[in-house]
Amino acid sequence: MMSRADNSPRFVYIAAAISALGGMLFGYDTGVISGAILFIQQDFALSPTLEEVVVSSVVFGAMLGAVAGGTLTDRFGRRIILVLTAALFALGAVGTALAPTITWLIIGRVIVGIAIGVASFTAPLYISEISPVTMRGRFVSFNQIALTSGIVIAYLVDYALSGMRGWRWMFGLAAVPSALLGIGMVFMPESPRWLVSRGMVDKGRSVLQRIRGTAAVDDEVQDIRRSSAQQSGNWVELSSPLLRPAMIVGIGLALFQQVTGINTVIYYAPTIFQSAGIESASVAILATTGVGVINVLMTVVALLLLDRVGRRPLLLTGLAGMVISLAVLGTAFLFPHLRVLKWFAAGSLMLYVGSFAVGLGPVFWLLISEIYPVKIRGLAMSIATVANWGANLLVALTFLTLVQVLGRPGTFWLYGLLSIGAWIFAYVLAPETKGRSLEDIEAHWRAAKHPREMGKK
Ligand code: BGC
Repeated sequence: MMSRADNSPRFVYIAAAISALGGMLFGYDTGVISGAILFIQQDFALSPTLEEVVVSSVVFGAMLGAVAGGTLTDRFGRRIILVLTAALFALGAVGTALAPTITWLIIGRVIVGIAIGVASFTAPLYISEISPVTMRGRFVSFNQIALTSGIVIAYLVDYALSGMRGWRWMFGLAAVPSALLGIGMVFMPESPRWLVSRGMVDKGRSVLQRIRGTAAVDDEVQDIRRSSAQQSGNWVELSSPLLRPAMIVGIGLALFQQVTGINTVIYYAPTIFQSAGIESASVAILATTGVGVINVLMTVVALLLLDRVGRRPLLLTGLAGMVISLAVLGTAFLFPHLRVLKWFAAGSLMLYVGSFAVGLGPVFWLLISEIYPVKIRGLAMSIATVANWGANLLVALTFLTLVQVLGRPGTFWLYGLLSIGAWIFAYVLAPETKGRSLEDIEAHWRAAKHPREMGKK
């Protein structure tokens, strides 16, 4: 009933590309620290505790940003919040680049973190609300491609600037995409769904006409009006039994996306490679860049498939790949003296990242941008995002201790077990949103149907 002709998504390409700069900054600013910290540690003679504070200040800031950002995007609109976030990114980039003291640097990294926290969900939210139904998966996961590319660019910039100990430049360069995001978003329209849901129907209609390239958007406007008329848009609604399944799906996937260990690989890959017997630091760093590239390429595969095969098959296949690769990785570490170990370790690490990139990586951010009602979409997404960043912090703080207590085999098996849990969770609860309009998805919850029935027409 909802699938309309998608006349001219060209404008959506531009808008998605600009807002995905938010995703790129998310990836760049989280990845860049791995190289920068080596020099910061020396220049400021940091104690190990202070070093940890510098590294985790971004994640702390991201949690703050995610907490505050939800209500703000619902109240003031998606676009203006993205413009302000770009300003914060730029302020953080310049501030950290110029930092005369360590306190200044930490405050700068918290500011960058706040921007990341807001951008991590507002960029997919904005893209989801402007995309045509049949291409929404593709457009939203474009943000994940920007994110994973941002991580690789950060690795390369770190590599290129390490000869001159250029940590200030490593941070400062982020000002360029920040400026592009801010200036670009000034020229982009507000989300038509947000406009209509806030009673600005005529404005919303004209934006829709512009981005769909046709005057015939009345059906879509009517759908949005009907659906937002049934919502109060406050906390009570968020905790209502009808929305409970959607909240459980979002928060559950947020936690599983992190506790299955992805960022131990993203943040510690060189260490893992070295402990598997790849001794040369430069080969380990090269292998890490390889991991980053696989992350990007497999996200491209996901992008091409999400609107064809659907969200669930990719999620479940990716999770199965994660279970297998973590089992192999853990087992490889049982035999530290075998020379083949390093190839098993490297191969299974690549399979693990590739499996994440084809499933849980993009699908989590995509689903939370689709499954909540328009009036509280920002708030609900921000709650899932806070859970995601909280779990990220937990894993970062416990990984090295876990390795000491359980050993490497035990640690990777633990992530493997949690991936089995994630597979079961996704199998039972993940909805199939392919080909459904956002209004259709809201109607599904109001009819008190089980999430899994969503894919069944
Ligand atoms: C996750 C990040 C992770 C990245 C890796 C994202 O979907 O939320 O925590 O670093 O994927 O590609």
